[in-house]
Amino acid sequence: MILAKSKDEVSKDVAVSVISQITEKPDSLLGLPTGRTPLNMYEHIKELTRKRNVDWSQAQFFGLDEYLDTDRLQSFKYYLETNVYGPLKISEKNCSNPLTIVNYDNAIESMGGLDLTVLGIGTNGHIAFNEPPTSELSWTHCVWLTESTKDANMEFFESPEIVPDKAVTMGIQTLLSSRRLILMAFGSHKKEILERALKGPVDPLIPASYLQKHQNLEIYTDFEFSI
Ligand code: GLP
Repeated sequence: MILAKSKDEVSKDVAVSVISQITEKPDSLLGLPTGRTPLNMYEHIKELTRKRNVDWSQAQFFGLDEYLDTDRLQSFKYYLETNVYGPLKISEKNCSNPLTIVNYDNAIESMGGLDLTVLGIGTNGHIAFNEPPTSELSWTHCVWLTESTKDANMEFFESPEIVPDKAVTMGIQTLLSSRRLILMAFGSHKKEILERALKGPVDPLIPASYLQKHQNLEIYTDFEFSI
């Protein structure tokens, strides 16, 4: 049973868990999300890094997804550069993005596989940019974004005309191959989709429902939730 805690407390809990992963395995491969949900967690990671002198130099960072049709400032690469890589002084050679690496899954596997991947969830049940419907067998692939996803991301763009409609994303198999998964969901508007995804049937129309198949999934919410 997850008891209601503040978004800030939950974000700090996740930051502590991510840093623990690095402490235990300094050369961990991390899958990192974008969007609103993880911003507070990234702030706590920066603060804890300063306080605990965390060494990120051996870690490898993998963006979950990336737009195919947007400019640099709106890209998820830029989001991670400004919120994570720059502040933590991560070497560019340790930062990977599905747009810049031709065979993303092969690159991840050749480096030992993902150790920890942090996910948010879209209100239509997408994880990374695996939009409904997505095959359980999918690896990294290109997608057309749904109208609901484009609407949700509209605020990050100056006008509706330039909201991207295409992306590349880690697939379901890519995500399920991660040894640890953390799923974060903040706000009552995410409770219903989280309930459907984790308590309902596994369904290609709710890609987050595939997470039920993972043996090491940790869920962090700022509302009461129980599986
Ligand atoms: C975006 C991202 C996802 C993110 C989701 C939720 O489209 N591709 O990685 O988890 O939508 O975003 P937010 O955290 O802003 O609600």
